[in-house]
Amino acid sequence: ENNFTNGISNNTGNLEKRLPKAIIIGSAKSGTRALLVFLKIHPDVRACPYEVHFFDRDENYALGLEWYRKRMPKSTSNQVTIEKSPGYFVSTNAPERVFNMSKDVKLLVIVRDPTQRAISDYTQLALRPNSSLPRFEDYVMRNNNILSTERGVVKFGVYIRYLWNWMKFFPLSQIHFVSGEELVENPTAELKLVERFLTLRPVINENNFYFDKKKGFPCFIGKIGFDGKTKSGCLKGSKGRKHTPVSQHILTRLHNYYQPYNEELYKVVKRNFHWPR
Ligand code: A3P
Repeated sequence: ENNFTNGISNNTGNLEKRLPKAIIIGSAKSGTRALLVFLKIHPDVRACPYEVHFFDRDENYALGLEWYRKRMPKSTSNQVTIEKSPGYFVSTNAPERVFNMSKDVKLLVIVRDPTQRAISDYTQLALRPNSSLPRFEDYVMRNNNILSTERGVVKFGVYIRYLWNWMKFFPLSQIHFVSGEELVENPTAELKLVERFLTLRPVINENNFYFDKKKGFPCFIGKIGFDGKTKSGCLKGSKGRKHTPVSQHILTRLHNYYQPYNEELYKVVKRNFHWPR
């Protein structure tokens, strides 16, 4: 459909399913859902409602790009289609596969204090049906008082290691880091940075958020979806769970383990996340 205003073509193109212009690639349990939901407040964002796991799961990748495109919501050409699958960040194959789809795609990575991320990840595993995990302390430590750094719960927090894999294919200018802590404490400011990175006009503002005391997290108010109606709400119950208390000794062990990797990350991405905070 073509709209002409003052003789200037405002060709927004047809409503079509398009490959994503931006992907939230991770990191799992850092606030990826909150980031996606809050971005949907922006009228120029169209988000895929579920995790497609195209680039990290061979059986999906084998179905081809057309299959992937068909999973996307309809959009006009001036809107930004966004998909989020947190498994991409730590996947060995995903960087090259994403690059083969588009060398210009923008990548969003939300990161959170890796120690808190580990506890969150563990909590999710422990709550799975029929799960019988040992308590957190025993899950991340071996008998001989050595950290189990090979466990996903621990190793996925070494963000810099995975970032190097992505940087083999994408320049840092195409990768934006979101602070998981700031997304909770100051969602407007954090989302304004994302709007800028995605070259979206500034729309999201303080009025889009309220702190829900019962939830313990910011919740949103905005025109989300095609009907243009104002909706409000919090993320569902599985987001923002109570964590099991963890002994100071283990917290310190984890903080010390992550610290050099965190420092390297701050240097590379030129932002200090101030973990632990
Ligand atoms: P916890 O449930 O461990 O607190 P993901 O969506 O990547 O799985 O991340 C889940 C985490 O998002 C939650 O971990 C929670 O801390 C965080 N989060 C950030 N903003 C949130 C919000 N507004 N509502 C609920 N959870 C939020």
